[in-house]
Amino acid sequence: MAKKLIFILTLLFAALGRELLYPEPQKDNPDNWGNHPRPHRPKRRHDKDDHDDQDDSPHRWNHPIQNNTRPVIGILSLPIHPYEPWNTTANTYIAASYVKFVEMGGARVVPLRVDQSFEELNFLFSRLNGILFTGGGANVWTNDSIPTWTPDYTEKACYLYRLVKEANDNGNYYPLWGTCLGFEAIQVCENNEFETLGNFNGEPPYTQSHDFTPKAKWSYLFNGIGRKYGEIIRKIMTDRKTSLLSHSHGVSPSMYQGENNLTATFNMLSTMLDKSGNRFVGIIEGKKYPIFATQFHPEKNIYEWDPQVPQPHDFYSVKVSTYFADFLVSEARRNNNSFESEEELKPYLIYNWWPIYQNGYFTQSYYFQ
Ligand SMILES: *[C@@H]1O[C@H](CO)[C@@H](O)[C@H](O)[C@H]1NC(C)=O
Ligand SMILES: *[C@@H]1O[C@H](CO)[C@@H](O)[C@H](O)[C@H]1NC(C)=O
Ligand SMILES: *[C@@H]1O[C@H](CO)[C@@H](O)[C@H](O)[C@H]1NC(C)=O
Ligand SMILES: *[C@@H]1O[C@H](CO)[C@@H](O)[C@H](O)[C@H]1NC(C)=O
Ligand SMILES: *[C@@H]1O[C@H](CO)[C@@H](O)[C@H](O)[C@H]1NC(C)=O
Repeated sequence: MAKKLIFILTLLFAALGRELLYPEPQKDNPDNWGNHPRPHRPKRRHDKDDHDDQDDSPHRWNHPIQNNTRPVIGILSLPIHPYEPWNTTANTYIAASYVKFVEMGGARVVPLRVDQSFEELNFLFSRLNGILFTGGGANVWTNDSIPTWTPDYTEKACYLYRLVKEANDNGNYYPLWGTCLGFEAIQVCENNEFETLGNFNGEPPYTQSHDFTPKAKWSYLFNGIGRKYGEIIRKIMTDRKTSLLSHSHGVSPSMYQGENNLTATFNMLSTMLDKSGNRFVGIIEGKKYPIFATQFHPEKNIYEWDPQVPQPHDFYSVKVSTYFADFLVSEARRNNNSFESEEELKPYLIYNWWPIYQNGYFTQSYYFQ
């Protein structure tokens, strides 16, 4: 009898101890992945700074559930300028790595061609579940005194950026992802100033690790699909050079000081060093909008193979990349827009075009005439 009692007490204490050690055991139940309640932050004294970082945490948003299991994401194409040495008569393109990145996360892709009219973009925007702005080369400015090439990338990117904010303001949860050029464009659009960007020594391409800011810990990007999962990914990105960079511009962390358009809209989650040791912003996320952007290229770790570019293809780097694809598409599943039917969607899907084996900086690209 006494033995039995001790046994029960031991079990009880073990259970209580476990409860104290792991205050949120249900968090890592895969059934909950992607639909977590807001992380329950243990109350502690002595961590005022940390608390401040949670105050504008996106966990305060109301995240709708992931109820759309057939998400479709729009990818904005880039102009092919006459001076570019591409053997094609097409005038816009999307590097296939971005398409595969979205497909890897479990979504389909519709190209948003940068030369489409605003009406055509509106039509597609209201049917898509998220947008991706790729990396690549394009003129990013809003300074009217500089002549722009046609089609004008910034005009269309900033238009879509405004639509994304408007949709979210109207209660239609609408995610936007930006990579490299897309990351730069998002911040130029927000600030309405080309001077948002600075010059950085990031060519030829190189790999780098991240210095996460305290905001990263309570960020949505690193909690939204599992707190432990996010923690593991942050640790890999801190300890290893899993991020491929290929840029001559960037955003200085000094842009994230004080009160301005950028600090009002985004949290800076990481900074990184360029090849001259200059610090630039690595990752941002919206404070109240599901907008996420990285200066580095998650898609290249898996889908680009140019021998001149040191894309990290090791296991850890590939896991970091799949993390962001999983995250982006999990966000798109929260949006309920849809085409009226599969028939209506069909002619817009990327499957209507064939990627060309370019065997260069981009392994494959989609060209649009
Ligand atoms: C989610 O969507 C499905 C149809 O795709 C629907 O049957 C289901 O009721 C929805 N869930 C909720 C909670 O509304
Ligand atoms: C350019 O493309 C055309 C048609 O695909 C091909 O015939 C030609 O050889 C290509 N030229 C170069 C320099 O690659
Ligand atoms: C626009 O760009 C030109 C050339 O770089 C510069 O002289 C001018 O000050 C810029 N204007 C604005 C409003 O930024
Ligand atoms: C999408 O539909 C689901 C189920 O009806 C709902 O819970 C969710 O709030 C909707 N999302 C948006 C952004 O309206
Ligand atoms: C900040 O945002 C406002 C409102 O969108 C805009 O008018 C302004 O040009 C932006 N840029 C700066 C530097 O204030």
